[in-house]
Amino acid sequence: MAMAHRNSSFQSNDLFPREIDIEVCLKTLKIFQKMEGDVNCVVWDASLVLAKYLETMSQNRADFLSGMKVLELGSGLGVVGLTAATLGAQVTLTDLPEALPLLRLNINENKTKIGSMGGYAIAESLVWGDTTSDILKEEFDMIVLADCIYYEEAIDPLVQTLQFLNNTINKKPTIYLTQELRDSELQQRLWETFYQKLSEFFFIEKIPEEQQHANYKSPDIILLRINKK
Ligand SMILES: C[S@@+](CC[C@H](N)C(=O)[O-])C[C@H]1O[C@@H](n2cnc3c(N)ncnc32)[C@H](O)[C@@H]1O
Repeated sequence: MAMAHRNSSFQSNDLFPREIDIEVCLKTLKIFQKMEGDVNCVVWDASLVLAKYLETMSQNRADFLSGMKVLELGSGLGVVGLTAATLGAQVTLTDLPEALPLLRLNINENKTKIGSMGGYAIAESLVWGDTTSDILKEEFDMIVLADCIYYEEAIDPLVQTLQFLNNTINKKPTIYLTQELRDSELQQRLWETFYQKLSEFFFIEKIPEEQQHANYKSPDIILLRINKK
Protein backbone atom coordinates (compact mmCIF):
# COMPACT_ATOMS: atom_id res chain seq x y z
CA MET A 1 0.00 0.00 0.00
CA ALA A 2 1.32 3.45 -0.89
CA MET A 3 1.82 5.69 2.10
CA ALA A 4 -0.09 8.90 1.47
CA HIS A 5 -1.72 11.52 3.65
CA ARG A 6 -5.44 11.86 3.42
CA ASN A 7 -8.35 12.64 5.68
CA SER A 8 -8.94 10.02 8.40
CA SER A 9 -12.58 10.70 9.27
CA PHE A 10 -14.85 7.69 8.76
CA GLN A 11 -18.41 6.47 8.42
CA SER A 12 -19.33 3.08 9.80
CA ASN A 13 -20.00 1.64 6.30
CA ASP A 14 -16.35 2.41 5.36
CA LEU A 15 -15.14 -0.04 7.96
CA PHE A 16 -14.34 -3.75 7.86
CA PRO A 17 -13.14 -5.86 10.79
CA ARG A 18 -10.02 -7.98 11.13
CA GLU A 19 -9.80 -10.56 13.89
CA ILE A 20 -6.49 -11.17 15.65
CA ASP A 21 -6.15 -14.11 18.03
CA ILE A 22 -4.18 -13.75 21.23
CA GLU A 23 -3.55 -17.44 21.77
CA VAL A 24 -1.91 -17.18 25.17
CA CYS A 25 -5.13 -15.90 26.80
CA LEU A 26 -7.62 -17.30 24.28
CA LYS A 27 -9.00 -13.89 23.34
CA THR A 28 -9.69 -12.52 19.86
CA LEU A 29 -9.26 -8.82 19.18
CA LYS A 30 -11.62 -7.24 16.66
CA ILE A 31 -9.88 -4.40 14.85
CA PHE A 32 -11.79 -2.15 12.46
CA GLN A 33 -9.86 -1.03 9.39
CA LYS A 34 -10.98 1.57 6.88
CA MET A 35 -11.56 0.79 3.17
CA GLU A 36 -9.64 3.86 2.05
CA GLY A 37 -7.52 6.39 3.86
CA ASP A 38 -4.21 7.31 5.37
CA VAL A 39 -1.49 5.07 6.82
CA ASN A 40 -3.38 4.87 10.12
CA CYS A 41 -6.33 3.01 8.56
CA VAL A 42 -4.90 -0.48 8.02
CA VAL A 43 -3.09 -3.07 10.15
CA TRP A 44 0.55 -3.14 9.04
CA ASP A 45 2.50 -6.42 9.17
CA ALA A 46 5.12 -4.92 11.48
CA SER A 47 2.41 -4.40 14.10
CA LEU A 48 1.51 -8.10 13.97
CA VAL A 49 5.17 -9.10 14.43
CA LEU A 50 5.46 -6.83 17.48
CA ALA A 51 2.09 -7.84 18.95
CA LYS A 52 2.97 -11.52 18.58
CA TYR A 53 6.41 -10.96 20.11
CA LEU A 54 4.73 -9.41 23.17
CA GLU A 55 2.48 -12.45 23.31
CA THR A 56 5.44 -14.84 23.06
CA MET A 57 7.28 -13.01 25.84
CA SER A 58 4.17 -13.06 28.04
CA GLN A 59 3.87 -16.79 27.53
CA ASN A 60 7.45 -17.21 28.78
CA ARG A 61 7.12 -14.68 31.62
CA ALA A 62 3.67 -13.97 33.07
CA ASP A 63 4.88 -10.64 34.53
CA PHE A 64 6.25 -9.35 31.20
CA LEU A 65 3.23 -7.10 30.66
CA SER A 66 0.88 -7.74 33.55
CA GLY A 67 0.53 -4.47 35.52
CA MET A 68 3.13 -2.69 33.35
CA LYS A 69 2.62 0.87 32.18
CA VAL A 70 3.06 0.92 28.41
CA LEU A 71 3.10 3.76 25.89
CA GLU A 72 2.55 3.13 22.19
CA LEU A 73 3.66 5.71 19.62
CA GLY A 74 2.00 5.89 16.18
CA SER A 75 -0.60 3.29 17.19
CA GLY A 76 -2.65 3.45 13.98
CA LEU A 77 -5.54 1.06 14.59
CA GLY A 78 -4.03 -0.09 17.90
CA VAL A 79 -3.06 -3.75 17.34
CA VAL A 80 0.12 -3.56 19.44
CA GLY A 81 -1.30 -1.47 22.28
CA LEU A 82 -4.52 -3.48 22.43
CA THR A 83 -2.55 -6.73 22.53
CA ALA A 84 -0.44 -5.39 25.41
CA ALA A 85 -3.60 -4.32 27.26
CA THR A 86 -5.19 -7.75 26.71
CA LEU A 87 -2.03 -9.23 28.23
CA GLY A 88 -2.68 -7.17 31.38
CA ALA A 89 -0.84 -3.88 30.75
CA GLN A 90 -2.06 -0.32 31.43
CA VAL A 91 -1.62 1.14 27.95
CA THR A 92 -1.69 4.67 26.55
CA LEU A 93 -2.06 4.41 22.77
CA THR A 94 -1.10 7.57 20.89
CA ASP A 95 -1.21 8.94 17.36
CA LEU A 96 -2.02 12.10 15.41
CA PRO A 97 -5.34 13.73 16.41
CA GLU A 98 -7.04 12.62 13.17
CA ALA A 99 -6.30 8.95 13.94
CA LEU A 100 -8.00 9.01 17.34
CA PRO A 101 -11.68 8.42 16.40
CA LEU A 102 -10.98 5.03 14.78
CA LEU A 103 -8.41 4.13 17.43
CA ARG A 104 -10.96 4.88 20.17
CA LEU A 105 -13.60 2.85 18.34
CA ASN A 106 -11.20 -0.11 18.38
CA ILE A 107 -10.44 0.34 22.08
CA ASN A 108 -14.16 0.44 22.81
CA GLU A 109 -14.82 -2.65 20.70
CA ASN A 110 -12.31 -4.66 22.76
CA LYS A 111 -12.90 -3.07 26.18
CA THR A 112 -14.55 -6.07 27.81
CA LYS A 113 -11.77 -8.47 26.76
CA ILE A 114 -9.08 -6.08 28.00
CA GLY A 115 -10.86 -5.47 31.31
CA SER A 116 -11.33 -9.18 31.93
CA MET A 117 -7.53 -9.60 31.87
CA GLY A 118 -6.93 -6.70 34.29
CA GLY A 119 -5.61 -4.43 31.52
CA TYR A 120 -6.60 -0.95 30.50
CA ALA A 121 -6.30 1.09 27.29
CA ILE A 122 -6.76 4.77 26.53
CA ALA A 123 -6.02 6.77 23.35
CA GLU A 124 -4.47 10.24 23.38
CA SER A 125 -2.94 12.55 20.81
CA LEU A 126 0.86 12.62 20.84
CA VAL A 127 2.50 14.32 17.88
CA TRP A 128 6.21 13.45 17.71
CA GLY A 129 8.38 16.42 18.55
CA ASP A 130 5.71 18.12 20.69
CA THR A 131 7.67 18.47 23.91
CA THR A 132 4.76 20.16 25.73
CA SER A 133 2.57 17.05 25.91
CA ASP A 134 1.66 15.94 29.46
CA ILE A 135 2.17 12.32 28.33
CA LEU A 136 5.92 12.98 28.30
CA LYS A 137 5.79 13.66 32.05
CA GLU A 138 4.31 10.23 32.82
CA GLU A 139 6.43 7.24 33.82
CA PHE A 140 6.28 4.18 31.57
CA ASP A 141 7.86 0.76 31.91
CA MET A 142 7.82 0.08 28.20
CA ILE A 143 7.41 1.98 24.91
CA VAL A 144 6.29 0.18 21.76
CA LEU A 145 6.12 1.34 18.15
CA ALA A 146 5.54 -0.44 14.85
CA ASP A 147 6.29 0.75 11.32
CA CYS A 148 6.70 4.42 12.20
CA ILE A 149 9.77 5.24 10.08
CA TYR A 150 8.52 6.15 6.64
CA TYR A 151 8.34 9.90 6.57
CA GLU A 152 11.48 12.06 6.34
CA GLU A 153 10.21 15.08 8.28
CA ALA A 154 9.13 12.89 11.18
CA ILE A 155 12.51 11.26 11.88
CA ASP A 156 14.05 14.01 14.03
CA PRO A 157 10.79 14.64 15.94
CA LEU A 158 10.40 10.90 16.61
CA VAL A 159 13.98 10.54 17.92
CA GLN A 160 13.40 13.65 20.05
CA THR A 161 10.22 12.18 21.56
CA LEU A 162 12.01 8.91 22.37
CA GLN A 163 14.86 10.86 24.01
CA PHE A 164 12.42 13.01 25.96
CA LEU A 165 10.59 9.95 27.25
CA ASN A 166 13.87 8.60 28.53
CA ASN A 167 15.22 11.87 29.95
CA THR A 168 12.41 13.42 31.94
CA ILE A 169 11.42 10.47 34.06
CA ASN A 170 13.00 8.25 36.69
CA LYS A 171 12.22 4.96 35.00
CA LYS A 172 14.15 4.13 31.85
CA PRO A 173 11.56 2.32 29.77
CA THR A 174 12.65 -0.38 27.37
CA ILE A 175 11.59 0.39 23.82
CA TYR A 176 10.45 -2.37 21.45
CA LEU A 177 10.30 -1.32 17.81
CA THR A 178 9.44 -3.16 14.60
CA GLN A 179 9.97 -1.80 11.13
CA GLU A 180 9.30 -3.28 7.72
CA LEU A 181 12.45 -2.70 5.66
CA ARG A 182 11.05 -1.67 2.29
CA ASP A 183 12.94 -1.88 -1.01
CA SER A 184 12.77 1.72 -2.19
CA GLU A 185 15.94 3.78 -2.00
CA LEU A 186 14.11 6.48 -0.05
CA GLN A 187 12.82 4.06 2.61
CA GLN A 188 16.28 2.46 2.98
CA ARG A 189 17.88 5.88 3.41
CA LEU A 190 15.25 6.92 5.98
CA TRP A 191 15.81 3.75 7.98
CA GLU A 192 19.60 4.21 7.97
CA THR A 193 19.24 7.85 9.04
CA PHE A 194 16.84 6.96 11.84
CA TYR A 195 19.05 4.09 13.05
CA GLN A 196 22.17 6.25 13.08
CA LYS A 197 20.48 9.10 14.99
CA LEU A 198 18.93 6.68 17.47
CA SER A 199 22.24 4.91 18.11
CA GLU A 200 23.81 8.18 19.31
CA PHE A 201 21.59 8.06 22.40
CA PHE A 202 20.47 4.44 22.77
CA PHE A 203 21.84 0.90 22.89
CA ILE A 204 20.12 -1.03 20.12
CA GLU A 205 19.83 -4.80 20.11
CA LYS A 206 18.35 -6.81 17.26
CA ILE A 207 16.01 -9.56 18.48
CA PRO A 208 16.72 -12.68 16.39
CA GLU A 209 13.90 -14.45 14.58
CA GLU A 210 14.37 -17.56 16.79
CA GLN A 211 13.14 -15.51 19.76
CA GLN A 212 10.09 -14.21 17.92
CA HIS A 213 6.68 -15.83 17.42
CA ALA A 214 7.00 -19.03 15.38
CA ASN A 215 4.56 -17.85 12.68
CA TYR A 216 4.77 -14.07 12.86
CA LYS A 217 8.28 -13.10 11.82
CA SER A 218 9.89 -12.08 8.56
CA PRO A 219 13.37 -11.31 7.23
CA ASP A 220 11.87 -8.01 5.95
CA ILE A 221 10.68 -6.93 9.40
CA ILE A 222 13.28 -5.93 11.94
CA LEU A 223 12.54 -6.16 15.68
CA LEU A 224 14.69 -4.10 18.06
CA ARG A 225 15.06 -3.79 21.83
CA ILE A 226 16.30 -0.30 22.67
CA ASN A 227 17.62 1.12 25.95
CA LYS A 228 19.01 4.49 26.94
CA LYS A 229 22.82 4.73 26.99
C1 LIG B 1 2.59 3.06 8.96
S1 LIG B 1 1.52 3.58 10.24
C2 LIG B 1 1.75 2.31 11.44
C3 LIG B 1 0.51 2.17 12.32
C4 LIG B 1 0.58 1.02 13.32
N1 LIG B 1 1.68 1.20 14.25
C5 LIG B 1 0.72 -0.29 12.59
O1 LIG B 1 1.86 -0.81 12.50
O2 LIG B 1 -0.30 -0.82 12.09
C6 LIG B 1 2.41 4.94 11.03
C7 LIG B 1 1.61 5.63 12.12
O3 LIG B 1 2.36 6.76 12.62
C8 LIG B 1 1.46 7.85 12.79
N2 LIG B 1 2.22 9.11 12.68
C9 LIG B 1 2.83 9.60 11.57
N3 LIG B 1 3.43 10.76 11.82
C10 LIG B 1 3.23 11.02 13.14
C11 LIG B 1 3.60 12.08 14.00
N4 LIG B 1 4.31 13.13 13.54
N5 LIG B 1 3.22 12.02 15.30
C12 LIG B 1 2.49 10.96 15.74
N6 LIG B 1 2.10 9.92 14.98
C13 LIG B 1 2.45 9.95 13.69
C14 LIG B 1 0.45 7.69 11.66
O4 LIG B 1 -0.75 8.39 11.88
C15 LIG B 1 0.27 6.18 11.64
O5 LIG B 1 -0.73 5.74 12.51
